[in-house]
Amino acid sequence: MDTRGRFITLEGGEGVGKTTNVELVCRYLAERGIEVVRTREPGGTPRAEAIRDLLLDPDVDEPLDDDAELLLVFAARAQHLARCIRPALDRGAWVVCDRFTDATFAYQGGGRGLDPARIATLEHLVQGELTPDLTLLLDMPADAAQQRLASRIDGQGGQRDRFERERLGFFTRVRDAYLARADAAPERFAVIDAGETLEAVQASIVAALERQLGLGPAKGEE
Ligand SMILES: Nc1ncnc2c1ncn2[C@@H]1O[C@H](COP(=O)(O)OP(=O)(O)OP(=O)(O)O)[C@@H](O)[C@H]1O
Ligand SMILES: [Mg+2]
Repeated sequence: MDTRGRFITLEGGEGVGKTTNVELVCRYLAERGIEVVRTREPGGTPRAEAIRDLLLDPDVDEPLDDDAELLLVFAARAQHLARCIRPALDRGAWVVCDRFTDATFAYQGGGRGLDPARIATLEHLVQGELTPDLTLLLDMPADAAQQRLASRIDGQGGQRDRFERERLGFFTRVRDAYLARADAAPERFAVIDAGETLEAVQASIVAALERQLGLGPAKGEE
């Protein structure tokens, strides 16, 4: 029997509810007796989080070059895979990650306009054959997501990171790139309508976990 853990990613633009719903997925798996590692990108280990800080730090004196941004994303990912994701999957834990490589295709590819073929080259270099088993794409129009995000940012003192400072056109390209990725790999993706109430979003996520990973009732509920 294959005892390797499964790898689940949550994706989508800014403010669609990824972090809110990572919690639900982890709880759902833990209730089924599964060891869960919750993590995020860019980051997930101390050194990779240091790279995250470089990526999110607003461009004040020195703009970050697009290629440098792309390479930093994959440098953080290499560290995260080596020190966190691969060891966890190897010992049979399931990994739930807030953003992964689809975000690179969406942000650096769609948003910044970098050639997806170059991103794919780095993907193979850093990941080899490893790709998520299930990707939950939280999808909603970019303007509505911006409004959600604005209320959260106001609550945290109004500071915006390098990506949150981008304009609506950038986030529309990010969304379109995500949807194109989902269309190209329907067996891996579940596209969730993130514009619904949190209850409805969570019901769709549970349905996707059941449908695409064959999960059932919690222990004691069978
Ligand atoms: N379905 C929902 N309906 C209404 N508000 C929601 C819903 N889901 C999340 N929110 C709220 O929207 C805001 C953004 O959610 P969250 O931080 O989870 O998004 P995110 O995708 O992780 O954002 P980021 O890309 O910035 O990390 C939060 O204030 C959250 O409480
Ligand atoms: Mg988040």
